[in-house]
Amino acid sequence: MVQRRILQFPDGFLWGIASSSYQYEGSNTNNQWYRWEQQGHILSGDRCGVANNWWEQAERDFELAEQMENNALRLSLEWSRIEPTEGRWNSAAVDRYRTILTNLRRRHLKPIVTLHHFTEPLWFAEQGSFARAANVALFVRYVKYAVEALRDLCDFWVTINEPNVYATQGYARGKFPPGEQDTSRALLVLRNLLQAHIGAFYAIRHLQPTAQIGYCLHYRLFDPANPFSLLDRGAASMQENAFNWSPLHASETGHFSFPLNILLKSLTNAPSSRDYHGVNYYTREMVRFDPRLPNELFGRRFICPGAIGNDPGLDNNFGEIYPLGIYRVLKNVYRRTRGNKPLYITENGFCDALDNRRPRAILEHLAMVQRAIMEGIPVRGYLHWSLLDNFEWNDGWSARFGLVEFDSHTQQRIPRPSASMFGEICRANAITETIVERYAPEAMDTIFGTDDLAQQQVPV
Ligand code: BGC
Repeated sequence: MVQRRILQFPDGFLWGIASSSYQYEGSNTNNQWYRWEQQGHILSGDRCGVANNWWEQAERDFELAEQMENNALRLSLEWSRIEPTEGRWNSAAVDRYRTILTNLRRRHLKPIVTLHHFTEPLWFAEQGSFARAANVALFVRYVKYAVEALRDLCDFWVTINEPNVYATQGYARGKFPPGEQDTSRALLVLRNLLQAHIGAFYAIRHLQPTAQIGYCLHYRLFDPANPFSLLDRGAASMQENAFNWSPLHASETGHFSFPLNILLKSLTNAPSSRDYHGVNYYTREMVRFDPRLPNELFGRRFICPGAIGNDPGLDNNFGEIYPLGIYRVLKNVYRRTRGNKPLYITENGFCDALDNRRPRAILEHLAMVQRAIMEGIPVRGYLHWSLLDNFEWNDGWSARFGLVEFDSHTQQRIPRPSASMFGEICRANAITETIVERYAPEAMDTIFGTDDLAQQQVPV
């Protein structure tokens, strides 16, 4: 009999999708992203509108997640619904979230709940958002209220989604609200967000001693355009340190490492303020030294020429598909935190309307996750971004990340092949040869390790 190969995941591994309130719920008109939209910042001119209509009917999509035999689902609470004006709580919104969480649990989908995923109430934005250190207390007050109201239904919290993206896009690059371009403000915002996580962590810990509490960072790799150039290497490593490792180091030890330590003072009460490391990974960029770009730490970033993803195949050229990157990130986080906590992939995904690249990309990324697990890294779950095509922030509806195709005009849902493949993986708790044969036979050798993907030298 022919021996069939298999990449097995550990028992109890969490499989699911990740989502966020503004991108899925619809009819959120009381936060700073809605205002940003009204000001005409969405590239495609699109509107979020009723989005995927989860405020009314999330449950019909939970059905899809259940059919894929997921056992977890990540969503976020919309702060602007729960506290629409400062200090006034909306119990009807809490009731709706209670129904949503109850319905997830009924389908054996463990709720993983984010308390801040890029959006915040207008009143909070008007008071300077996280650019004012004093506002951290307002966030923590909301966290206490929300957790107290929902703790019987959820025991896995993500305090803040991607502080490094919120700070960089909103305050250094001007791509997210409030659209500022001021690097030192961006750093201050990053520090305040990390401090806000710590405040939220202790508030939740007090209310729910056994909960799993963490936050997730967006990890992006930056590699030198020319690996033999000291200047390119220096610029790439500065970018990677500033974006990934210095914030991680600060959350671990309280102290920012180089280069952020030049401008940022230490955090208070940072060590031990998390139960897991949330890893969002999408892509890497190449970096070439450029003395004209001091604000970019002297590095010009670009997508690797000829890379998969840097071609007309994917929507918007969203970035290179680089599976080895997820392994490098996991290794790095593990090493830098001395393996002190379990890791969860809280996001990983690809925008690919035609679903030409996604099946193979998912398989190859998961093979890398499994490799990390086999090497002893305690990765406990994988949440795919995302279930449906959703409102992709500044890119509106043009970037299609869904396992399921979604038409924002008709609300129609059409599962892509990736959805059935993800279901088969979750059901088997493994990648099997049959799955690879069916969805991406061309990747058989890379996935089962006889080809170079698994053999590549890993620059950790
Ligand atoms: C964000 C998601 C977003 C995804 C794809 C992540 O950085 O958390 O909200 O949709 O990237 O761009």
